[in-house]
Amino acid sequence: MIAERPPYLADRPRRLRATSAIRDAVAETDVLPRHLVAPFFVTTASPGPIPGMPGVERYSPEGILRQLDGALQAGVRAALLFGVVPDDVKDLTGTAAADEQGPVARALRLARREFGDDLVLITDVCLCGYTDHGHCGVPAGGERFAIDNDATLPLLARMATAHAEAGADLVAPSDMMDGRVGHLRQRLDAGGHQNVGILSYAIKYASAFYGPFREAAGSSPGHGDRSSYQMDPRNSREALREALLDVEQGADALMVKPALAYLDVMAAVRAATHLPLVAYNVSGEYAMVKHAAAAGALDEPRAVREALLCMRRAGADLIISYHAVEAAARGWLA
Ligand code: PBG
Repeated sequence: MIAERPPYLADRPRRLRATSAIRDAVAETDVLPRHLVAPFFVTTASPGPIPGMPGVERYSPEGILRQLDGALQAGVRAALLFGVVPDDVKDLTGTAAADEQGPVARALRLARREFGDDLVLITDVCLCGYTDHGHCGVPAGGERFAIDNDATLPLLARMATAHAEAGADLVAPSDMMDGRVGHLRQRLDAGGHQNVGILSYAIKYASAFYGPFREAAGSSPGHGDRSSYQMDPRNSREALREALLDVEQGADALMVKPALAYLDVMAAVRAATHLPLVAYNVSGEYAMVKHAAAAGALDEPRAVREALLCMRRAGADLIISYHAVEAAARGWLA
């Protein structure tokens, strides 16, 4: 006699979770070394560890080569470079950002010579690490900390051109000025750099999760905050507007930043465009995991793997993460 089966047990999703082999067979998402981009701080000031970001250091342009080699060995073939310069070269308009002897340009030339086309070299394009006031653009006359959008564009273009000339594959503007993707595209093309791509930080929120980065890059605004140019965390329709504008202006790939608290935005942008999408697992997200793991509050490899997988599930093709090399080298991915 067969016991009657209650109707609510007709469908049993647990069948597909019974063994690790079954779970792997039906997994919808994965994260592999090829999905990761490793960020690096390159400096002509002082190299060394960054206290707020355990495991992350600033390296000289020569010192970065070993790190890039380590990334390649782990299967991570893309790097994002940030420049850190001494305070005494910073000025009102971030002149040093376009210096061909600056840390990023030097690292690019060395890395290109050392690794050829094995590495995808991406550079952050923004003035905040090079201005004495720490804002991402130049101040408008009068009110010093109103940022002048249109006056900033040519300075970003000079910086992007310097990176293109030094060997960047992609430049990644993170300043959040209006029209910068179109402007950069036009200026890069005019300089003969038609083949250098633009990875736009299209959707970049004014976020507290950038805290450790600003310590690392020495780029905190001296006065005020970045809310007059970075996006308001309360908004998501605005993210689609930003995404579509950058598509129109010629972006090759779009970024959503930060990642973890903004995965709804990632999914919405995924549905709205066909470009490759990049999640930025930012410094504060990294620091939270590292500090919690150091306190014994969570299992780091599992937490990192879960966070990265969830970014992929939300629609990210690529993930920029300070965990990248360690996670790939130690087999934390899936
Ligand atoms: C520069 C820039 C920032 C980050 C990337 N590019 C800082 C900021 O906008 O304040 C943040 C990266 C991170 O937190 O890991 N504008």
